[in-house]
Amino acid sequence: MVPQWLIEKKRDGGILSDGEIHDFISAYTAGTIPDYQMSALAMAIYFQGMTTEETASLTDAMMHSGDTIEWSDCPLPTADKHSTGGIGDKLSLMLAPLVATQGVAVPMISGRGLGITGGTLDKLESIPGYNTRLSVSEFKRVVNQVGCSIIGQTARLAPADQKLYALRDVTGTVPSIPLITASIMSKKLAEGAATLVFDVKCGIAAFMKTRENATKLLESLVNTGKSMGRKCAALLTSMDQPLGRTAGNAVEVNEAVETLKNAGPADTRKLTLDLSLEMVALSYPERPREQIRDALEAALASGAALEKFRQMVEAQGGDPRFIDSPTLLPQPKCAREVPSPVSGTVSNVNADTIGRIVLQLGGNRTATTDVIDLAAGVDQLVQEGETVETGQPLMRLLTRDAARAESLIQLAQSAVTFGNSQA
Ligand code: URA
Repeated sequence: MVPQWLIEKKRDGGILSDGEIHDFISAYTAGTIPDYQMSALAMAIYFQGMTTEETASLTDAMMHSGDTIEWSDCPLPTADKHSTGGIGDKLSLMLAPLVATQGVAVPMISGRGLGITGGTLDKLESIPGYNTRLSVSEFKRVVNQVGCSIIGQTARLAPADQKLYALRDVTGTVPSIPLITASIMSKKLAEGAATLVFDVKCGIAAFMKTRENATKLLESLVNTGKSMGRKCAALLTSMDQPLGRTAGNAVEVNEAVETLKNAGPADTRKLTLDLSLEMVALSYPERPREQIRDALEAALASGAALEKFRQMVEAQGGDPRFIDSPTLLPQPKCAREVPSPVSGTVSNVNADTIGRIVLQLGGNRTATTDVIDLAAGVDQLVQEGETVETGQPLMRLLTRDAARAESLIQLAQSAVTFGNSQA
């Protein structure tokens, strides 16, 4: 294979064969194709796109660039969910244990937050002692013992994606549907779950801003998953406003626990149930959907889902006492209320602005090497449809830096729009 011939072929709109794609990716993973040739190919793909077959070949090549996990010894059907990410998206924390109460094993490999998008791993790491770095055999042990486990990506899982994603990040080639599809799917397929459910976000704080692009990504993920023998479903959901009343890390864990205690904000609970339903329904197609929904609600009401969560935390070395004593989670030095400048009914909370505020409070990172403040974030956030009086809090800013919180008050006020405000 001559790398530049493949780059030229894609640059000119040609279709790469399965063999060409596999050869290129394995040489890139091995280090014999340099970054500059890989980035040239990524840019050619960005402009010319890929057919469904090419995307499947790229996914397969990246998936097989490292280890794949086998679940044939697991007595239960396996399922996982992937969200394209957003603000306040703590769903995995509730969904994994909830689905596990229904006889579905949930092996989940999650990522870290970057920019304004939060990451499940950072949230979990605010739990004292919780170990996100399990080996594959420990991961399998927890899934078999508890029914669910959430860990971080290991170095041997889809290493081609780890290399290529870092390269795309600095070469302007992230927003390409075939490249995003292959990146997400290679990790999810290597993780081995038989069923995959996607939560494709669309809106101001989402990766995909328009419905049209979000739909294209959704179809690409589902078609690629199905063509590779997995059961797949996807929901297209809004990311114009944050999910729930918290955004950050420890605060989101706390809100997830409230939801598992059958309380928590209605939007967070509903989406958790909707996605869980898809995972269980695909795993047990003979079970009526209404019966599954009732069973999921019952698992929240009875505390069964909370109990699974507790077991998962313990099995991964975490101290579960925070479930009943939330102050055992990292606490901010400063909690500054943001007073409403007007009276009125909230018509919108801008998720993008909230994400930027969390980042500036120290709750997320701008580079993968940044260290985040797990206690930083936003809580007690108002939601659409609620009425507030002038001076009442719109949210609290949590941080270790009181001056930073003070400097963000105006921005925080600008995040909330009122339908019928009175000064
Ligand atoms: N998430 C991923 O894992 N990969 C992408 O390319 C984009 C989002």
